[in-house]
Amino acid sequence: MYVLGIETSCDETSVAVVKDGKRILSNVVSSSLKFHEKYGGIIPEIASRMQLETIAQVADFAIKESGIKLKNIGLISVTGEPGLLGSLLVGISFAKSLSLALKIPLLGINHLYGHIYAGFLKDKQPSRPFIGLVVSGGHTSLFHVKDFDRVELLGSTVDDACGEAFDKIAKLLKLGYPGGPLIERLAKKGDPSKIKFRCSNTENPLDFSFSGIKTAVFYLTKNKRIPLKDKQNIAASFQETVIETLVQKTLKACAMKNINRLLIGGGVIANNSLRERFLRESEKKGIELHLPPIQLCMDNAAMVAGLGYRLFSKGKRSGLDLNPVLQ
Ligand code: KG4
Ligand code: ZN
Repeated sequence: MYVLGIETSCDETSVAVVKDGKRILSNVVSSSLKFHEKYGGIIPEIASRMQLETIAQVADFAIKESGIKLKNIGLISVTGEPGLLGSLLVGISFAKSLSLALKIPLLGINHLYGHIYAGFLKDKQPSRPFIGLVVSGGHTSLFHVKDFDRVELLGSTVDDACGEAFDKIAKLLKLGYPGGPLIERLAKKGDPSKIKFRCSNTENPLDFSFSGIKTAVFYLTKNKRIPLKDKQNIAASFQETVIETLVQKTLKACAMKNINRLLIGGGVIANNSLRERFLRESEKKGIELHLPPIQLCMDNAAMVAGLGYRLFSKGKRSGLDLNPVLQ
C-alpha cells in the first residue's frame, strides 16, 4: 500500500510517499530555518505562514517524484501531535482536504513515535518489544514499545529537551542556530575533561534534566569575551556530559525492562559522537541497536507515512474531527 505522509509539527514542511511502511519513494523536506536564524529559535508565526505558502507545492513535488498517482494512495498519514499549534493545523487541514476530496482514509499520528519509526524505514525490520529513545529539539523521552499501538512512557525531561540544551548553549557561546551541529563541530577541537559539568538528579531515574548545565554555562560566560579555545572546551565538556547521561539512562531502561533491543530517533541522534558512543556501549552490553540514517533523524514525512501504515494495518483511523494536540 502507498501512504502519503505529511509532517508540519515545527519549522519543516515535509511530504513523502512510502510503500508498505518501509520503501521511501519520495521524501521532500522544505525548511523555514533561514527565516528564524536571526531570532535564535523558531518563531511559530513565521513557521506556520511559510508552511501555508509551501505545503501544496511540496506535496505536488513529492507525488511527482514518487511516480505514483494520487488515486493510488491508500492512506493519508499526518502528524497530529505534539507540535506548534499553527504548524500542526496547516498539515492537518491539508490532509483533511485531500482525504475528503479524494475519499482516501485519514490517520493522525504522534510525531515522537514517528521519530522512533525512522529506524524501521529499511528492508530488515527490527522486532518488538524494544526501548525507544527520542532526542529532539522539543523532547527527550524514553519509551517501552511493546507494539506500534502499545507504547509506555518510561521517562522524559523535567525541564529543557536535549536539542534545546544544545541550542541554548550555542546561543550563550554566540555560535548561531540551530546549535547542535555547531556545538558538535566546536567540540571536536575541545578537551571534554577541562570542565566538569553534571546533569541534575531526577526523582524518576529515567527522567532527564538539562537546564542545570545551561545555567552553569550561563555563569561561566556571563559578561565575558570567551576565547575560542575556551569555547571549544565548553562545547566538548557539555557534549560529553549529555552523551554520558543519555547513554547511562537508556541502558538503565534496557536493564530495568530486561530488553536488549534499542531504537533511537530525533535530530540529536545526527550527532556522530553520540552515535559512536551508543554503538560502542550497546555492542559491549549485547544490545541490538537501530539508528536511522542521518537524513531521517530530522523531521521528515517518511517516518509519518511509515508509522501511519503500521497503525492503519492495526485498524486505526481518524475522522474529519482530527485536531492538533500540543503536548
Ligand atoms: O527532531 P528535530 O529535527 O526537530 C524536533 O522535533 O525538535 O530536532 C532538532 C534538534 C535541534 O535542537 C538541533 O540543534 C538538534 O536537533 N541537532 C543536533 C545535531 N543536529 C541537529 N544536536 C546535536 N548534534 C547534532 N549534530
Ligand atoms: Zn521532531
